[in-house]
Amino acid sequence: MTASETRPLTAATRSLSFPPGFLWGAATAAYQIEGAARTDGRTPSIWDTFSHTPGKVFEGHTGDVAVDHYHRYQDDVRLMSELGLDAYRFSVSWSRVQPTGRGPAVQKGLDFYRRLVDELLSAGIEPALTLYHWDLPQDLEDGGGWPERATAERFADYAALLASALGDRVERWTTLNEPWCSAFLGYGSGVHAPGRTDPVAALRAAHHLNLGHGLAVQALRAALPSGGKLAVSLNLHEVRPLTGSAADREAARRIDAVGNGVWLGPMLDGGYPADLLADTAHLTDWSFVRDGDEAAVGQRLDWLGINYYTPTVVSAVGEGEAKPQDDGHGDSAHSPWPGADAVAFHRAPGERTAMGWGVDPSGLYDLLTRMSDRYPGLPLVVSENGAAYEDVVGPDGSVDDPERIAYVQGHLEAVHRAIADGADVQGYFLWSLLDNFEWAYGYAKRFGAVRVDYDTLERTPKSSARWYAGVATSGELPL
Ligand code: NOJ
Repeated sequence: MTASETRPLTAATRSLSFPPGFLWGAATAAYQIEGAARTDGRTPSIWDTFSHTPGKVFEGHTGDVAVDHYHRYQDDVRLMSELGLDAYRFSVSWSRVQPTGRGPAVQKGLDFYRRLVDELLSAGIEPALTLYHWDLPQDLEDGGGWPERATAERFADYAALLASALGDRVERWTTLNEPWCSAFLGYGSGVHAPGRTDPVAALRAAHHLNLGHGLAVQALRAALPSGGKLAVSLNLHEVRPLTGSAADREAARRIDAVGNGVWLGPMLDGGYPADLLADTAHLTDWSFVRDGDEAAVGQRLDWLGINYYTPTVVSAVGEGEAKPQDDGHGDSAHSPWPGADAVAFHRAPGERTAMGWGVDPSGLYDLLTRMSDRYPGLPLVVSENGAAYEDVVGPDGSVDDPERIAYVQGHLEAVHRAIADGADVQGYFLWSLLDNFEWAYGYAKRFGAVRVDYDTLERTPKSSARWYAGVATSGELPL
């Protein structure tokens, strides 16, 4: 694929052309949008439990109703059509289709996803199904959760079950979404469900997420008619040392190991990186990794999903020095970075989103070109990118969000530049289609191209939605 800049005609008509077939999408996740938390046999996931635990989520918000996508999916698919989407990335709520995380499926749960997929297909929108976007059935957590090997095995069974139910109509699958957050925010810093704060449990969780991914890929390959187009979506950290000092570069190396190497190693490089094992040797001997596990994790993938929002800027902390812990992943006395205690985090200077995250599209360019050089032949897809801003509703009910347009514009220019420089980037999924439940921030942070009024659940496309529709339908990014 090649990308080209169209010939400048006038300043107003200059644009960047994306390659034909480039996939324009938007993404969501089950717990963030579906609601219907106790409908049709669904049982609690760890996020139901966590959000109902006082003090865990902003103002006690929960996903009980969310944006009621479970009942409004037809309206939402209509919105996707208005946005001109080629593809829609969504996740399945595991406890909706397999309430205890094991055993037979609940027909009504499966039927919901069948109806959703059929609606997408009849609108000409390709479904991109994520098996796991953080909502482990509570029953499995009660049995030990991701730190236990059995959870990886249950995940593979769940993958097989969904492949047999939906494999006739879904070809594009991702196993896990951002397993770094599941392992390290869920079991390390505790700012995400299930809220545990044990670095060893976090590392064990990381391994069993990896194993679950590998086993699930095998199960999907066996069950899908065409073998599927299979991937994982990683929030790869674009790690930058604050200065060029050897100490800051060493801090960056550590964060790269526990942020990126922990996934890329076994999934794509043949095993866990030696530096990660050394950095964490004081915590664990990794004996939970059994012979053959790394080979099981390292399955061939058809594409790699990259979620990118902001770079990760780090420096070394000397003995006794105060340590800024502002890594943009919430406030906790416990670090989500096992083996990287002497590392400080800094927000990138300049413009920030409502999450406080620095706006820096060069991080996306660097990540895409680096991954493309490192894994030639593995197509890349930006499976999430987008921004929260303090949207203002005008007197007529409209929402003008020029900052979000500028953010996406800048990042699409970075994608285009990466393609022009040889990276095989095949698609871009905007996070998110709709305003939704932003995890520990509840409904306080809005990422949607479509506004949701949380009192009436009414949907209103923001100006960014109209702008994105123009780009998605033409494949041209106006400059
Ligand atoms: C990553 C996650 O996959 C998604 O669930 C979340 O809402 C966005 N980033 C924004 O934080």
